[in-house]
Amino acid sequence: MKATRLHGFKDLFHPETEKLRLVESKTKEVFGRFGFSEIIIPILELSGVYSTGLGDTTDIVQKEMYTFETKGGERVSMRPEGTAGVVRAFIEHSLHRKSPVTKLYYSGEMFRHEKPQEGRQRSFNQIGAELFGSRDPLADSEIIAMLWLAITELGLSDHVELELNSIGKPAERERYKKALTDFLSPNKDSLCENCQNRLGMNPLRILDCKTGTCREMTSEIPFSIRDYLSEQSSEHLDALTSSLGEKSIPYRLNPRIVRGLDYYTDTVFEITTDKLGSQNAVAAGGRYDLLVERMGGPETPAVGFAMGVERILLLLEKTGTRRNSPGKKQLVCVIHIGEEARGEAARIANDLRKKGMRVETEYENKSLKSQMRKANRTGAAHSIIIGEDELRKKVFLLRNMRTGEEKAFPLKKLADLRGHGDFRKLL
Ligand code: HAM
Repeated sequence: MKATRLHGFKDLFHPETEKLRLVESKTKEVFGRFGFSEIIIPILELSGVYSTGLGDTTDIVQKEMYTFETKGGERVSMRPEGTAGVVRAFIEHSLHRKSPVTKLYYSGEMFRHEKPQEGRQRSFNQIGAELFGSRDPLADSEIIAMLWLAITELGLSDHVELELNSIGKPAERERYKKALTDFLSPNKDSLCENCQNRLGMNPLRILDCKTGTCREMTSEIPFSIRDYLSEQSSEHLDALTSSLGEKSIPYRLNPRIVRGLDYYTDTVFEITTDKLGSQNAVAAGGRYDLLVERMGGPETPAVGFAMGVERILLLLEKTGTRRNSPGKKQLVCVIHIGEEARGEAARIANDLRKKGMRVETEYENKSLKSQMRKANRTGAAHSIIIGEDELRKKVFLLRNMRTGEEKAFPLKKLADLRGHGDFRKLL
């Protein structure tokens, strides 16, 4: 077997892994301030969870899911997103009985068989949040404020835009879809192949097609979804925008934001950037008041979003935002010369690690020169050096790797050292 990973999948190493975890922990800390708690949902669900949840005509369900049959004959899919799984858990555990409002966040890998490109992978990480039990526009406003605060604390608010729209309720949307189809059908041939198919199934998606000719055609449409919204949906959007204004959260109303998932009602939004090419959304979400019922639960309004962690990392890199770079943890190298010192070095390294310090040491007998080279390469601030001579005198040499200064100290002094700061005090 050839050791190759699947196309569109990534292996992550330090420091990317650390950056990813930092973004996760910062974001989760912000979510905690808004009263959200963590839910861990399975990566695998019965395929029906997604086909019912996301809608049969969505791109995800039609062509992007990793679906297979288990040995027990169940048809299962790798999660392409988190909302449907969280809703399934909400219903299965009757969470509506425990509290009128439920606020949950989740994180982890999602899987979509899309065409890989920069910012688009077949396996990627999301951090998402879902709020169940409130129909109030203030709930939409709060969830957007939470996302905006996370983006701000990551240092990215100057590089992104919050785009907002309402796609109304299904009946309003159906009327709009019909008007769209009627308008676009006479010139159907000018649409890209994908959108020609969408015209029959999901004409809304034509609005966010990036193809030049489709954009040209849709820019000529003389009406927008706003013309089809009911009074209730319009009022919902107005209340949301005025609340965002009160919170000084900048937004732009964009009637082209339609989202690719079927479950949305009224509010939809995306956090976009002009720095990532066509994969410009770093987070997206909206209200989905009918989904819990559609999946077999009680009538429960809900609103949520998910952030694409790899896109956040890309944006941090492209904008040179350093705030989330992992701090360089101090390192000590324990260098040994001779067989006896080798064992002693392993013991010292273990003792220092027990005190919380980051320590490197060589397993094998290697030359002083090679061990020093490694200490320099790994960025150690200090090295502890022990040879046979030092062992006999019961001392160790401490070397400041930056200045090259060296000094001997009694071995028993190591027991008093509490952290890297104590090495700095010595040398
Ligand atoms: P989504 O727009 O499909 O929404 O995905 C949310 C975010 O995940 C996107 O804005 C993007 O940053 C990231 N993302 C999506 N696909 C990929 C990919 N192939 N590669 C890298 N990043 C990607 C949802 O998933 C909804 N569940 C959001 C939601 C939660 N709505 C309500 N609650």
